[in-house]
Amino acid sequence: MDNLYDILKFIHIISFVFMATPLFNLIVVNERALMGKGFVYATDRYMENIIRRGAIRCYVFQSSVLVTGILLLFFGPLGIEALWQNWVVLLKTLLLIVLMGLLSYVHFVLQPKIEALMAEVKPDVPAPENLSTRLKPYRVRRKKLASFCLFIVISIIILGVQVYDVFSPIVTIGLIVIAALFAWRANKTLIRFGWF
Ligand code: HEM
Repeated sequence: MDNLYDILKFIHIISFVFMATPLFNLIVVNERALMGKGFVYATDRYMENIIRRGAIRCYVFQSSVLVTGILLLFFGPLGIEALWQNWVVLLKTLLLIVLMGLLSYVHFVLQPKIEALMAEVKPDVPAPENLSTRLKPYRVRRKKLASFCLFIVISIIILGVQVYDVFSPIVTIGLIVIAALFAWRANKTLIRFGWF
C-alpha cells in the first residue's frame, strides 16, 4: 500500500507542477505584446493556438490533482472525511473548483469570442484595421484571469505543504502576499529572471 501511496503522491505533485500554465501563458502574451500592436495573422494564430489548446491540458492536470488528492485521503492516514474536516484540504479542494470554473469561463465564453474575430481573417489577406482593438477587451480580461489563476495555484501549493503540519499564520499570510505580488509582476512584465 505504501508504494501505491507514494506513486499517488508523485502523480499529485507532478500534476500540479504542470498546472503552471497560467504563468507561461502570461509570458506568451507579454512576448506577443513586445512584437507590436498590429494584428499579424501567423503570430496571433500561433499564440491563440497555444492558449486555446492549453485549456484541455489544464483540465487534465486539474482533474489528475483532484483524483490523486482524493485517493491520497482514501489510502492515507487522513481518511476521506478530511475532505470536510481538515480545513487545509477543504480549502484546497474549493480553490481547485474555483480554478476549474475560471478556466471554463475562459475556454467556453472568452476564447470563442476571440476565435470568432480571428475567423474573420485569412492567412494571406490583410486583416481589418481595427481587429486588434476589437480583440483587446477579451485578451485583457483573459490576461487578468490568468494572473488570478496563477495566484490561486501558488496559494494552493502554500496550503498543500501544510496538509499535515500547519505553518504559523504570519508565514502563510506572508507567502500569500508574495504570491499576489508575483502574479501581478507576471501580468505586468516578462519576469526575465524567473522570480522577477
Ligand atoms: C491545485 C490543487 C492542489 C495543489 C496545488 C496541491 C498541492 C499539494 C502539495 C504541494 C502537497 C505537499 C506534498 C508534500 O508535502 O510533499 C500536497 C499534498 C497533499 N494533497 Fe494536494 N494539492 C491540490 C489539491 C488537492 C486536493 C483537491 C486534495 C484532496 C481532495 C489534496 C490532498 C492532498 C493530500 C492528502 C496530501 C498529503 C500527501 C502526503 O504528503 O502524504 N490535494 N498537495
